[in-house]
Amino acid sequence: MALPALRIGHLLAKVPVIQGGMGVGISLSGLASAVANQGGIGVIAGAMIGMKEPDVAKDPLTANLRALRNEILKAREQSPKGIIGVNLMVALTTFSQMVRTSIENRIDIIFSGAGLPLDMPQHLLQVCEEKKEEIKTKLVPIVSSARAATVIAKKWASRFGYTPDAFVVEGPKAGGHLGFKPEEIQDPAHALEVLVPQVVDAVKPFEDKCGRAVPVIAAGGIYSGEDIRNFLALGASGVQMGTRFVATHECDADERFKQSYLSATEKDITIIKSPVGMPGRALENQFIHASRLGNKKPFKCVFQCVHTCEQEKTPYCIAQALINAMKGNLERGFAFCGVNVARVNQIVSVRELMESLQKEFDEAVSSFSRGVQNMQSFFGYGKK
Ligand SMILES: Cc1cc2nc3c(=O)[nH]c(=O)nc-3n(C[C@H](O)[C@H](O)[C@H](O)COP(=O)(O)O)c2cc1C
Repeated sequence: MALPALRIGHLLAKVPVIQGGMGVGISLSGLASAVANQGGIGVIAGAMIGMKEPDVAKDPLTANLRALRNEILKAREQSPKGIIGVNLMVALTTFSQMVRTSIENRIDIIFSGAGLPLDMPQHLLQVCEEKKEEIKTKLVPIVSSARAATVIAKKWASRFGYTPDAFVVEGPKAGGHLGFKPEEIQDPAHALEVLVPQVVDAVKPFEDKCGRAVPVIAAGGIYSGEDIRNFLALGASGVQMGTRFVATHECDADERFKQSYLSATEKDITIIKSPVGMPGRALENQFIHASRLGNKKPFKCVFQCVHTCEQEKTPYCIAQALINAMKGNLERGFAFCGVNVARVNQIVSVRELMESLQKEFDEAVSSFSRGVQNMQSFFGYGKK
């Protein structure tokens, strides 16, 4: 059985798999266009996207906006018909300008978490008004609870008369920064399997009111086609995956970053207290170890990347650490990863990854139907 398509407004992804935005520089136009060309939704990460621009230290805003625009245009060129999105964290100091730049460049979809994106529709409405045309960019908040989904949907309705086009619900098994308190990460009450049906229920009244579907997309710890089947059965319309896409040829990170995934074991996975004020899941290394021991010194901030960074108190610059890691210099940084990183044992093409997900999905559906048939014949029902 083919994976069901994912519809978000006018956008129709043949495969219900979104490649999660991964900063800094892990998912740029290369990975995003490869995923889009395979029928999924490819996502460019906006965080510090201007890192390679010559003026990034002098004028980070201009550098980031220029690089964002270039990556969007490159991805569009490499995947003229695929669905391309950007991931913009609310905590970014350049958030509003990056949302506007993405809409002006007609990005298909914007995913936004790490805070509540309460103003996002305002930018869309303003750009449409200025350009005197209807731009169809879809706006998708990333949440970690049904409560957050409700708050956003209510605020958007009352302020802009706009209903979110979909929600991503990201659970505590995800890679990167996590929208949970450290003690919630292992708490079964916050498991993705619990959150997905809660968010599906929470969006129902808004769907009824606006008369269209608001798909819920599950993220965090989804690894196989069988996992996809399980989350679709819980009411999700699609999944967002990050870790698996790092181990692809097309991923934009340095080979050494990818290799760190291949050599990772369960005991290497750790939770850090990130300078941006959230916990994050990453691969333990000397850099993280030294920062825990207090062996890293406060620094002078050049990038001014996130509002939430308490620059005077933090032992290192998160932007610089992630830029170093993306370039393969893991002595001066670290790799974010999802809970399943130790299962990754080879680098494949995006096409191969998508094919294996399809095959596993198929097998999971067949074995589920066989199980149902066996039960029916055991109990003697389901037959005439
Ligand atoms: C290396 C890495 C970087 C990430 N960076 C971001 C980011 O910049 N913004 C964001 O919203 N999520 C980020 N994430 C989360 C992913 O988009 C995705 O939702 C999550 O990893 C899904 O869980 P999985 O890795 O278990 O599949 C990152 C994840 C990883 C592994």
